[in-house]
Amino acid sequence: MSESQLWHEVDDYFTDRLLPDAPDDALEAALRDSDAAGLPAIAVSPLQGKLLQLLAQVQGARHILEIGTLGGYSTIWLGRALPADGRLISLEFNPEHAEVATRNIARAGLDKQVEVRVGAALDSLPQLADENPPPFDLVFIDADKVNNPHYMEWALRLTSTGSLIVLDNVVRGGRVADPANTDPDVVGTRAALDLIGSHPRLSGTAIQTVGAKEYDGFALARVLA
Ligand code: SAH
Ligand code: DHB
Ligand code: MG
Repeated sequence: MSESQLWHEVDDYFTDRLLPDAPDDALEAALRDSDAAGLPAIAVSPLQGKLLQLLAQVQGARHILEIGTLGGYSTIWLGRALPADGRLISLEFNPEHAEVATRNIARAGLDKQVEVRVGAALDSLPQLADENPPPFDLVFIDADKVNNPHYMEWALRLTSTGSLIVLDNVVRGGRVADPANTDPDVVGTRAALDLIGSHPRLSGTAIQTVGAKEYDGFALARVLA
């Protein structure tokens, strides 16, 4: 058995044991309709979605910001962590993705709490800041990786002490640490990691993950005073 097959088997094992009731109908349907609409199959895995949900719950998150909605799969996991009066704003560049996501989110019963905003996140973020929203308790960054350092800067502006910033896809099969790799996405992720490591208001770490998303990982950064 290849290493990758083993990762998938263990992922399936954990999913069966730990998420016996999930992915449920709304999550399954979100993936099915995303696939039918031709969206790329790059959503977080069920176990990763549950991790995001747990992190939001540990945060006691009432306000969540997501950058990169796709079909709303991670959005639904995160949105379900919110209290009734909580709110999630998710930013998506592609109007077709946003349309699929909006339907998926409504089917999950989250349309009152979740808003998908269409546009390039670097246009939406300054507009959002102008609205002076309450600080976001959790920010999930999962869009175009080339802009990760900019998204980190905006996340810092839109959060406050104790907020958590989660950055997806920091490993990408190990490309992050390959000095020969100068892909702009990889360079963007490196710059975001450098920012986390050097910023006086951030305390961060990164975890490598294997499983349904192959070999990848998350960076986590807590906002300090
Ligand atoms: N968070 C999702 C996956 C997001 S995939 C999940 O786990 O379910 C990345 C998404 O970011 C894609 O839908 C892509 O269209 C979007 N994206 C790419 N560039 C963007 C940009 N500049 N602004 C906002 N969204 C962007
Ligand atoms: C891929 C995976 C992701 O989680 C993402 O945000 C973008 C791309 C991928 O596997 O290509
Ligand atoms: Mg991702």
